Amino acid sequence: MNFRPRLTKNTVLFGGTAVWGLLLISCVAVNRTMLAPPFVAGAAFVGNKGCVECHEEQTSKIHTSLHAKVSVADASLGSTSCESCHGAGSLHVKAGGTKGNIINPRKTSETCFQCHLDKRGEFSLANSHQVMNGKMSCGDCHDPHEGHAIRGSGASLEAQNENCTSCHTAQKGPFVFAHNAMREGCVACHNPHGSVNQKMLVARDANLCLRCHLQTTDRNGAIFVGGEDHRTRLQNGTCWIAGCHEAVHGSNASKPLRY
Ligand code: HEC
Ligand code: HEC
Ligand code: HEC
Ligand code: HEC
Ligand code: HEC
Ligand code: HEC
Ligand code: HEC
Repeated sequence: MNFRPRLTKNTVLFGGTAVWGLLLISCVAVNRTMLAPPFVAGAAFVGNKGCVECHEEQTSKIHTSLHAKVSVADASLGSTSCESCHGAGSLHVKAGGTKGNIINPRKTSETCFQCHLDKRGEFSLANSHQVMNGKMSCGDCHDPHEGHAIRGSGASLEAQNENCTSCHTAQKGPFVFAHNAMREGCVACHNPHGSVNQKMLVARDANLCLRCHLQTTDRNGAIFVGGEDHRTRLQNGTCWIAGCHEAVHGSNASKPLRY
């Protein structure tokens, strides 16, 4: 077994094994390192046409999926995108669909890390969604079988937020006083994979807010944010401590999002 072939740029290799050999996968403009699909001992690739009969739900829209592009370049098999995430399927098909002969990435994110190497690091950061211990899966936020893989993003940022608020109901709203930042999506302030900062914030201090709220200084040294002198307030470090803008997601009582 040998996972050495690592190409970036436009050429992508599956790791070589006795079973697969070195198979070139056809994938346009991929600028990342790729390794092998998950390994199923003794199984060979059969192509998506070998899955259709029993898995209509997953197969019917796969052509709209970004991952439909990820395929072993063996014309006789047609597309093999299913197997690039689930591993070679011949044994599973032959057995009429028993578990154990096919990989279900819900149980392990290793499948995804094969190609998205950088994500392992993000989920290993101190503040992250609990994917590494299996309590959550990439599939909670990504639809591997349809459309743009990021749930909701095909439609609008609001739809993407809805995926988050299906679990995080406290941030859902609607609020009497909405914070318009939410229109930029939860990802305007949070890295959904993980962050060195608490609460997976993209910045740990006032800079989180100052990216959108202009800070100006007058000649007396007053520092204005949102029309108010924040000279002393900014010394608190963050803007969301109690007594300041604690209700960053929106408020039903306070227009300046104090509580
Ligand atoms: C990008 C990787 C990826 C590709 C490509 C992919 N799948 Fe999946 N598949 C997943 C993930 C992730 C899950 C687990 C979903 C979840 O967490 O809910 C899954 C789950 C499944 C399941 C189990 C569903 C269940 O309810 O337990 C089946 C069956 C399946 N996929 C079939 C297919 C078929 C058939 C194809 C090709 C048409 C395919 N998959 C392509 C990643 C992929
Ligand atoms: C002859 C019917 C049949 C074919 C063909 C078939 N499957 Fe399945 N598959 C099943 C059945 C039935 C199950 C459910 C097994 C169970 O729940 O015990 C299943 C389960 C799965 C699962 C979930 C396994 C798990 O551990 O949760 C995945 C993933 C999957 N199939 C992918 C594929 C892929 C990819 C192909 C094509 C290479 C394929 N299947 C072809 C019948 C089939
Ligand atoms: C065999 C390689 C491979 C595997 C395995 C794989 N991906 Fe991908 N993924 C790709 C490629 C190629 C693209 C599209 C090219 C690009 O934009 O970089 C992509 C795109 C994505 C995107 C969208 C990226 C964007 O920029 O919009 C997401 C999200 C994603 N994959 C999640 C997953 C998840 C979750 C899994 C595991 C269930 C997975 N991938 C498994 C190769 C793979
Ligand atoms: C809590 C929800 C959530 C989970 C869990 C999650 N993602 Fe994401 N992911 C997102 C969102 C939201 C985006 C879009 C980020 C943006 O627009 O800035 C994204 C973007 C991506 C992208 C494309 C952009 C990039 O950062 O390269 C890839 C690839 C990706 N995720 C892979 C994965 C993999 C692999 C897993 C599992 C190991 C995973 N994600 C788990 C929410 C999640
Ligand atoms: C499937 C459910 C689920 C989805 C979907 C989900 N999360 Fe989470 N999220 C969790 C769980 C569980 C925790 C961990 C809570 C804990 O440890 O107490 C968490 C933690 C968080 C935290 C840190 C909270 C803390 O106390 O440190 C933030 C921020 C967060 N999620 C944002 C998001 C965003 C943004 C999205 C959408 C991109 C999202 N979540 C999607 C379940 C989910
Ligand atoms: C304007 C920036 C911003 C946006 C946009 C944003 N958040 Fe937050 N979020 C924060 C800040 C700041 C905190 C930390 C609050 C604290 O520690 O008191 C936080 C905390 C959280 C927490 C932890 C709550 C707790 O009680 O510990 C969750 C969960 C969360 N956000 C989810 C979301 C979701 C889901 C969305 C999108 C619907 C979202 N956030 C959008 C800034 C934002
Ligand atoms: C993605 C951009 C963005 C980010 C990041 C952001 N905001 Fe906002 N915020 C807005 C927009 C847009 C408005 C509505 C227009 C306005 O009043 O400037 C708003 C309005 C507000 C208001 C209401 C003003 C009023 O009286 O009506 C407060 C308070 C506020 N933001 C605080 C914060 C805090 C605190 C943070 C950091 C946790 C933050 N914002 C981060 C975009 C953002």
